[in-house]
Order: sequence, then C-alpha cells, then structure tokens
Amino acid sequence: MPEEVIIVRESPNLSGTVRVSGAKNSALKLIAASILGQGATTLENVPLISDIDIMCEVLERLGATVERDGHSLCIDTAPVESFETPYELVTKMRASISVLGPLVGRFGQARVAMPGGCQIGARNIDMHLVGLQQLGVEFAVDHGILVATTPKGLHGGSILLDFPSVGATENTMMAACVAEGETIIDNAAREPEIEDLANMLNAMGAHIEGAGTSTVTIVGVPLEDMHACSHATVGDRIEAGTFLAGGALLGGPLTVEGIDPASLRMALTKLEAMGCDVQVGDDFVTVSRVNPLQAADIQTLPHPGFPTDLQAQFMLLTALAQGSSIITENVFENRFMFAAEICRMGADVAIDEHHAVVTGVDRLQGAPVESTDLRAGAALVLAGLAAEGETIVRHIQHIDRGYENYVGKLQSLGADIERATVELGG
Ligand code: EPZ
Repeated sequence: MPEEVIIVRESPNLSGTVRVSGAKNSALKLIAASILGQGATTLENVPLISDIDIMCEVLERLGATVERDGHSLCIDTAPVESFETPYELVTKMRASISVLGPLVGRFGQARVAMPGGCQIGARNIDMHLVGLQQLGVEFAVDHGILVATTPKGLHGGSILLDFPSVGATENTMMAACVAEGETIIDNAAREPEIEDLANMLNAMGAHIEGAGTSTVTIVGVPLEDMHACSHATVGDRIEAGTFLAGGALLGGPLTVEGIDPASLRMALTKLEAMGCDVQVGDDFVTVSRVNPLQAADIQTLPHPGFPTDLQAQFMLLTALAQGSSIITENVFENRFMFAAEICRMGADVAIDEHHAVVTGVDRLQGAPVESTDLRAGAALVLAGLAAEGETIVRHIQHIDRGYENYVGKLQSLGADIERATVELGG
C-alpha cells in the first residue's frame, strides 16, 4: 500500500532565516469566536494546515460561508442558524469543541459531539463544563452528543479552574462575552493564544481584561453589540520553538521571524542552559551553538512554564547532549511516545510514568519511524537530520495538521529532506 512519508538524510546544518506561520492553537479558536460576530470576520496570517480546513468545515456545516485567499480567511457567520456540530467532524479534530462557548453565547444552546481522547491523553472536558455551568449552562448527553441549554439565560459567574486549562479558559471566556453581568475566571490559562483570542473578542465589542494572566475578567455585553472584525493571528511560538530546536541541534545560526520572543522565554532559557547562544529582537530569535549540547532537566507546565508542545523536540536535544537529563511531563498523561521512536534510532531514554531519564549518546542512526502526534512527528524529522544515514518518517498526516510546509521550510534551511510516496510493509 503506497503511503506518503518524509525521507530525511543526515544534514550538516540547519541555518538561515524562516518566517513562522500564524499560530494553529490561536487561529482555530479565532475561527470559532467569529460565530459571535454575526457578520463577515477577516482573519489574516492563518496557517495553511489541515486542522484549519476542518474547523472551516465545522463553520460551514453551521451555515457560515468561508472564503480562503492564501493566509487570509473571511468567515461570514451571519447565515449561521444551526448550533449542532456533528460527530464525524469532532472526531476528526477534538479542537472543534471550541465552538461550544460561542454557540451557547449566540443561541443559548448547542449540540456538540463529545470529543474523544487522542494519543497523548484522555483530553477530558470536565473543566469546560464546570466553567460554563457557572454561567447558567445546563448539560445533558444524548447518545454521545453534548446538549447545552440555558433555561435561565446566560449570566456572569465566578469560576475557579482546577487546572489552568487552555480550552476551558477559552470556551468560558467566549460565552462570558455575552453573559449578563460580570464573569471572573481564576486560575485561568496564561498562554499567549488566550491573549490573542481576547484581543479579537474585544475588537468585536467584548469587554475582557486580564487575558494572559491567571485572572480574567469579562463584563458581558448584549449579543447584538458584538460585531465582525478583522484580526491577524499571532505567530506560532511552537513552530518557532521547533525550528529553534533544529538550529540548536545542528549548530545554526538559525533565525525564526514572526514571533514575540517573550512567548518562548522558558524554552529560550533552556536552550542557553544547554550551551546555545540566543539572540532576540522585536519579532525574531536567532540560535547558534558551537560547543557540545549540555544536559538540562525540563518539566512541562502551563505557560509561562515549559510548553508541553516542545517536550519531544527538547527530548531530542537532551538525547544528544553530554550527560543525563530528567524530563517530567506534567500536562498530558501519555506524551512520551516519541521516546520509543528515537530509542529505535539509538537514543537512551528510560521512562518511569511522568519522568523520562535521557542519557546523551554521541550519534543517532537513521531508521524507519512513526509520528504518533504532530509534535513528535516534527521532532522525528529533526532527529533524522542529525542521524547517520536515512530516516523514513511515517504517518506524516499528523505533521500536516499543525505545520505549514514543514519540509519546504526545512529545505530552505539546508535540510536534505523530501516528501515521497513509497511502498512500505506494515
Ligand atoms: C491546548 O489543548 C492545545 N491545543 C494543545 O496543543 C496544548 O498542548 C495544550 O493546550 C496545553 O498547552 C489547542 O489549542 C488546539 P488543556 P487543550 O485544556 O486546550 C486536561 C498541539 O500539539 N484537561 O490546557 O486541550 C487535559 O486532558 C496541541 O498543538 C482536563 O482534564 O489543553 C490535559 O491533560 C496538543 N479537563 C490538560 O488538562 C478539561 O476540562 C491540559 O489541557 C480540560 C483539560
């Protein structure tokens, strides 16, 4: 059975300049938020990735019209009349759950298929529900469909999240925009994508303060006061961190443009701790390395802690560093699958529940490997660039979900890499 793979060969370096695309983990929510605009919202700097295609399909299924022109997206949600998101779309992409808050805000009700888990964890939505319940939303489950109603209307509330969940913060914030009264979300997620979403919602007429901090305050406005807007998505800090890890791996100098370096502060601190030179400007970061990589302990945490979405990429760095590193994954319950794949390339990683003990080795060997999630897939491609011989990365649809033109961008930085369709057993 022919399948599309990425063939990676040992490459002497990754150097030069690459501009990152708009942030996947912002753009998906901005598209959902356009439901509240009840008109034609224009989004700029939207990445050309398959998850965006799915979210656009979700909006079209609701009745919106979506026009795409390169990295610009025009979504007219005036025609939206449905408040139901079908199972087949939610299973394709669990982030579709981000329409829950906007649909409840717009229609006072919603029917959204319960998202399943995925490779990296159960991905529960209990905190989404608790947050929305504080705003007067009542939930029932009807054959796998989450049924949300607001029998007494949508009203402000005081929410304390058990964990600073990105999705729960976003869904609650979007519904609170048009809830009657004030809403306070404590222990809110502080990711830069939350700020980006709040900035767009405020441009649409909302009154949100504190986004990006642990306490977000929303003063609700009538739905009719919300309107469409134009907004540019922030740059993708995780894509940037992925390329910077590549530069650190092979030496650079490698510059990523189109991001706020402050959004990557912890990752940049770790690159310096591992022996890299890091230079930052207003919207770029340059990494270079002369001396051997040094071991460093990493623990993933909600922002501003180390991002879980860079855990695999930095595990790769520790796998080729001098010394042993301990990597602790605190955000997801099963996000060490990358380790098994790089061990097939000669890495030395021992997993003990949420801890990985990585003992640096001198070389990796190329091998056929499988992407288990988009970040692990992206990291496996980088591993192949540093490995002796050839690496075949399979299941690259995961990578295409979140990285626009990953192969092309790496080629522009000197990678010996190509996409190909091959016959592989198994
Ligand atoms: C977002 O997922 C991102 N996805 C993830 O990026 C990212 O890893 C994650 O935030 C953390 O930064 C998108 O934005 C589309 P959470 P989300 O709610 O919102 C548990 C990538 O590679 N939890 O902060 O789902 C949950 O299972 C992806 O681009 C509950 O238990 O993350 C997880 O273990 C991967 N109940 C942890 O909390 C809830 O109600 C963090 O989840 C909500 C979450």
